Amino acid sequence: MSTNSSAGQKNRTNNQDPAPAEASIQTQGKHWRYELDDEGIAWLHFDKANSATNVLSAAVLEELDAQLALIENKLPRGLIILSDKQNGFIAGADIKEFGPFADSSEATGLIRGGQLVFEHLAQLQCPTVSMIHGFCLGGGMELALACSHRVALDDPRTRLGLPEVKLGIHPGFGGSTRLPHLVGAPAAMDLMLSGRTISARAAQRIGMIDAAVPERQLKRAAIMMVKKPPTVAPGKRRWRALTNNFLVRPVLAAMMRRQVSKRAPASHYPAPYALIDLWATHAGNPPKMLAEEAASVARLVTGATAQNLIRVFFLQEQLKSQGKSASKKSNRNRSKTMPLETQHVHVIGGGVMGGDIAAWCALQGFQVTVQDQRHEALAQVLKRASVLFKKRFKKTYLVQAAMDRLQPDRDGLGVERADVIIEAIFENIEAKQSLYRELEPRMKKDALLATNTSSIPIETLSEVLKRPERLVGLHFFNPVAKMQLVEIVRGSGTDDKVVKQAAAFTRQIDRLPLTVKSSPGFLVNRVLMPYLMEAVLLEAEGVPGVVIDKAATGFGMPMGPIELADTVGLDICLSVAEILGEQLGLAVPERLRQLVNEGRLGRKSGQGFYHYKDGKALKEKPGRDYKAPDDVEDRLILRLLNEAAACLREGIVEGADLLDAGIIFGTGFAPFRGGPMHYVEESGSAPLLGRMGVLKQRHGERFEVDVGWPVEAEKVPGTGATTN
Ligand code: NAI
Repeated sequence: MSTNSSAGQKNRTNNQDPAPAEASIQTQGKHWRYELDDEGIAWLHFDKANSATNVLSAAVLEELDAQLALIENKLPRGLIILSDKQNGFIAGADIKEFGPFADSSEATGLIRGGQLVFEHLAQLQCPTVSMIHGFCLGGGMELALACSHRVALDDPRTRLGLPEVKLGIHPGFGGSTRLPHLVGAPAAMDLMLSGRTISARAAQRIGMIDAAVPERQLKRAAIMMVKKPPTVAPGKRRWRALTNNFLVRPVLAAMMRRQVSKRAPASHYPAPYALIDLWATHAGNPPKMLAEEAASVARLVTGATAQNLIRVFFLQEQLKSQGKSASKKSNRNRSKTMPLETQHVHVIGGGVMGGDIAAWCALQGFQVTVQDQRHEALAQVLKRASVLFKKRFKKTYLVQAAMDRLQPDRDGLGVERADVIIEAIFENIEAKQSLYRELEPRMKKDALLATNTSSIPIETLSEVLKRPERLVGLHFFNPVAKMQLVEIVRGSGTDDKVVKQAAAFTRQIDRLPLTVKSSPGFLVNRVLMPYLMEAVLLEAEGVPGVVIDKAATGFGMPMGPIELADTVGLDICLSVAEILGEQLGLAVPERLRQLVNEGRLGRKSGQGFYHYKDGKALKEKPGRDYKAPDDVEDRLILRLLNEAAACLREGIVEGADLLDAGIIFGTGFAPFRGGPMHYVEESGSAPLLGRMGVLKQRHGERFEVDVGWPVEAEKVPGTGATTN
């Protein structure tokens, strides 16, 4: 074991009582370390080499198999598997090894290989116990399920689950087969179909683990499970078996399909349906089900949805890494960059955005002062924050602690102490500039100054600063607690270091940073607006809102553009659209102005495109003989793609991957399509541009192809497109 992980292990277990018996025999592999203690219990420690996190790669599984062969040859009294990483047990299979595959039989072979290793573990003729702390997910959970027993640390950081559906697959290392028998089909399928993770106590309640215990008892509990394996009450066992009975399965499966279809259609997300079919058909015959489980996952993982969702996972990692370099640098050179650990955040403007940004920072553990010229605004901030904290923290003392971290500060006394200052006052150049004049002399020398402006160029705002290079945009999206993306807006004069600090801070508050150029609408609003305006035009032409929304959700958008505009607020949409209109020539439909003038602002005013009752849109279906135009989806999506191509050409973000990441995490763009530019690549730009040509003829110049479209555009005659 490496020195680091030894230390980690010591830290994690030094409260435990009693200490395990002294190891009498030890063997050290690359990733696994075997110890046999004086009581004849084998301890298999997992500590993946050269990795901060334990994941199951092919090499790790191969070495585990070899260890199991040795254990099998000289059977101990029992085997306890544990992790030597402080951050958790096992995060899952190594996603880097999820393809591409030549074909599904290559994938089947690999998955079967993993299954055999876990079968090896399951067949050991001695009690086997997974001793879990921190995350135990995916393949890690499947390994635990292959043990005869499981004990987990009862701690908020312990999370267990099988989140494979989020990557477009389902458990493939035996999890789909084992869990329904262990905990009963309803609980098992619910967990696997939703992909959600649960606490140690919740896992104990459903029977996924045998015990959730405090740290001081963890080892003792694992040892006791070897010495005196717990059993399940016969009544519970019978009930769990009944839920997997061949007569019950078709009924439950039909209910599950109905539930799943409300969340995701099979054509976009096939994995949940494949899992239900697998269980419904084969749960009575576990060996057969294992083989079919591998084949099913192989089919899914080689399909477009899974490959695109895996791509989205890596795009997310790429965004996270944008926040990393600054953290490292600040370690080496703290005086020149933001301190690695931000202590105090000061937010100015306690309105819709500032209030929620302040609450979010307090939720993440920072000391926060929030300044507003209006008392009522500050009272509202605290009220909304309390709702958020109660939702996120179950325990009252945690809610109270978060409330204590969030201080209303009418006079702005927090400015002098703050490491990060976020301005979120009215969208008005003079107001913001005059605030900065007053702020700058009072700020700490190295404090980060950020603005949440959604439309004013950073260069304009920074004109009044003595050090204009210190201003950066931190463009949050509404609602702050839901939207993961934060655009880090770089003005032409913004210091590189400041941009990196802003990205690092964004990671510290658990959001995803994306650096964008200071240009009208930045990336997300700019790409979204033409799509929303096209929806408004369609509605003005008489196409019912539900039809427009359905076209978008049919493509895979999480919410249709009409409902989205109502949710964002039609006044806000109008103001962003007008700015883009002035600066980039976007046409703003009269219909939008008309609704705003009538006070129909969307969900918040009870009326927008839709009417709202108790916050829910009342959607009128069109009459039976209504026939929608055949180009609704194209009109919406192609305008979005065209604007994305323009942003790429203008270098608003660095490259197509980051653009895709921004649009997926900033707008919810159909994740299973892998992002707009990836969608263009997969569909081939030629047919899409052909359709743009048709739309231009029908609807005019707004469908003019931007020259930023990928190279293939050259092949399409008559589109006007050239290559970039
Ligand atoms: P808001 O109107 O809800 O809140 C602004 C708050 O700032 C008000 O409570 C006001 O009393 C306070 N304020 C104004 N001048 C002040 C000063 N000198 N000192 C202290 N407090 C002052 O505005 P909202 O919607 O929160 O927008 C704030 C900023 O965030 C704007 O720059 C806007 O463009 C941007 N933004 C807004 C989004 C939205 O969806 N509302 C989304 C992303 C960015």
